[in-house]
Amino acid sequence: MKIMVVGGGGREHAIIKKLKENKDITEIFALPGNGGIAADATCVAVKATDIEGIVKFAKENTIDYAVVAPDDPLVLGAVDALTEIGVPCFGPNKAAAIIEGSKVFSKNLMKKYGIPTAQYEVFSDITAALNYLETAPIPTVIKADGLALGKGVIIAMTRDEAKEAVRSMMEDKVFGESGSNVVVEEFLTGPEVSVLSFTDGKTVVPMISSMDHKRAKDNDEGLNTGGMGTVAPNPYYTPEVAEQCMKEIFLPTIEAMNAENRTFKGCLYFGLMLTPNGPKVIEYNCRFGDPETQVVLPLLESDLLTVMKATTEGTLSETEVKFADKHACCVIMASDGYPQKYESGFEIKIADDVKDNVYVAGAKIEDGILKTAGGRVLGVTAVEETLEKAIDSSYAKVQKVSFDNAYYRKDIGKKAKEAK
Ligand code: AMP
Ligand code: GLY
Repeated sequence: MKIMVVGGGGREHAIIKKLKENKDITEIFALPGNGGIAADATCVAVKATDIEGIVKFAKENTIDYAVVAPDDPLVLGAVDALTEIGVPCFGPNKAAAIIEGSKVFSKNLMKKYGIPTAQYEVFSDITAALNYLETAPIPTVIKADGLALGKGVIIAMTRDEAKEAVRSMMEDKVFGESGSNVVVEEFLTGPEVSVLSFTDGKTVVPMISSMDHKRAKDNDEGLNTGGMGTVAPNPYYTPEVAEQCMKEIFLPTIEAMNAENRTFKGCLYFGLMLTPNGPKVIEYNCRFGDPETQVVLPLLESDLLTVMKATTEGTLSETEVKFADKHACCVIMASDGYPQKYESGFEIKIADDVKDNVYVAGAKIEDGILKTAGGRVLGVTAVEETLEKAIDSSYAKVQKVSFDNAYYRKDIGKKAKEAK
């Protein structure tokens, strides 16, 4: 079987490494992949957002199954375009991907179907938004409607900050058209949990829970990033919470999407906050999270391709999805300065005995040498019997990877350890 994976980050590297365990797969192509992924797949210089290029490549290379991993090609309709030429895909179609593509859509969906989330107001007019903020409860949360590379959310601790956020999105258009509509949302508190799930639109199978660390610096200080590390499972996500989420959030969301004629198939990601008033949805993603995938998939014991195909074919209820009763920790090694200015182009050295544990996100090969080429460079994952061991082991493995200008948080998993 020939498989194509669209995307080129650490998440895609984790998907590819897991897929490779299936011996029926003869070749995996990554579009575009990256210098590190090249060790595990054939990288093809087609951008993840180049839908025409993706379709052309799939046709010319008689691809048997495609995995579309990032948000933008999903929102642009990559799955619809591939399905049309007869290539079965993992991922939602355009109509369903809107659950991540538009925050106004997802907030209205939750309100309509009674799915617990923060109270909110939507504005398309800047004066109305600014007026509302004169009396809105503070802190408040301002969100750009569309995709904004994970940066479209501003937690405003003061009224002035809130107004400034609205102006930057609606007037200065810092996120382009994504900020034409904004959501002003109630500020919630509580531990955050990421739950990725497989769904075929009928059955929803949550994967093992995880905890992201979004801030750049230790103790959750510094700027928001794409994610600086993860652990799985998340200790706050007890069996009781899981049951409540299934009943109040997961199943109602799948049913709501069906009722809207937007049946969701693929990986639906629930970003949850466990508030004093119960679990609430902070965000939906229409795809695997990054770097959640780098701790969740190493714990998957079932064959990934079999599960993915079951979501496409609608046979998930008959398919086993089993996770190891173990713990995983992923530490992201970034270029110092990320998420702002950073230098790259430095040689990356990875000891042979940790190569299997490394998921490369931002790297290129130049003159046969692997070099840094991005903010988040790679993730180092360890799987162990306990959380403590997984943390220690991933940090020990980090010592076996080096490049100039490397930066990583020293406290990934600390909060999870304290929660137990
Ligand atoms: P997002 O980009 O949607 O993942 O949001 C980034 C982060 O902002 C989340 O992980 C939360 O920590 C925080 N956040 C988003 N919405 C809220 C909210 N309503 N209340 C408190 N924190 C929030
Ligand atoms: N780690 C959060 C995300 O993938 O959006």
